[in-house]
Amino acid sequence: MLVKLNDVLQGTIAGGYAVPAFNVFGYEDAKSIIDAAEEMNAPVIIATNKVAISHMPIEILGPLLVGIAERANVPVVVHLDHGKDYETVAQAIRNGYSSVMYDGSSLPFEENVATTKEIVKLAHAFDIPIEAEIGSVGYSDPSLGISGQLTDPSEAKEFAERTGVDALAVAVGTVHRMENQSAEIQYDRIEEIQSLVKVPLVMHGSTGLPDEDLRRIAGMQFGKVNIGTAIRMSFGKTLRNEFNAKPQAFDRIELFEKPMQAVKREAIHKMKLLNLDKFKTERYQLIN
Ligand code: G3H
Ligand code: ZN
Repeated sequence: MLVKLNDVLQGTIAGGYAVPAFNVFGYEDAKSIIDAAEEMNAPVIIATNKVAISHMPIEILGPLLVGIAERANVPVVVHLDHGKDYETVAQAIRNGYSSVMYDGSSLPFEENVATTKEIVKLAHAFDIPIEAEIGSVGYSDPSLGISGQLTDPSEAKEFAERTGVDALAVAVGTVHRMENQSAEIQYDRIEEIQSLVKVPLVMHGSTGLPDEDLRRIAGMQFGKVNIGTAIRMSFGKTLRNEFNAKPQAFDRIELFEKPMQAVKREAIHKMKLLNLDKFKTERYQLIN
């Protein structure tokens, strides 16, 4: 069933679990992740970033993912990840997304507040929950030239209050697109942010987090935990093995079978670390 972001965030803090937002790029990874959520009987967020919507137009990708979500027997949120401007967020809403992120984290504070406020107004006019970012989670690839900026707790409080966002992404030590789990997060900073900010927090770049940190943050104020690279690696590496093992094969459905199983296994592994075995689906209802 397709649900909105707030529907899955509402129980996370009291329940001591967090909902993963897995980045997907098409049918195969989205289907595998929903299979994982169904096996866990738990909610999940499928998220599309700039790369995904530049590969497949959002007018096609949105309805495809919404269709998959609607057929699922667990709550599924279809989320726009790192939306860079008003028009992209508007397009996502027009195409059925049930959650959006506007990312103004590279802007100066006042500009980020002003732009985020405008886009919150748009999303809320359509009753769609919205996430935004304060501080900035950087990228591991230096050629992208996106360095991080740790979140200042008092700025996080002011930003959340002035913008009215439903969820707040904060930078506490993770870096996007790490290929190993060696990120070091700052628990003192998280505690301080938690004491000041009321809305659920979002962790980005979570592939880089060691398993024990995923477990620990699931019990904190993080309601949404974004995981992309781990899923891309499990699909891509398994696909490479398949090519090597079956040099004569050319049928994509045959070649994708094991990569899809690998994505499902990886998603289940992360969901267990986020304590999703505690979740009960009965509380959720279909949108409309
Ligand atoms: O917004 C998406 C995430 O922050 C994914 O980060 O690819 O490092 O896991 P990751
Ligand atoms: Zn991110």
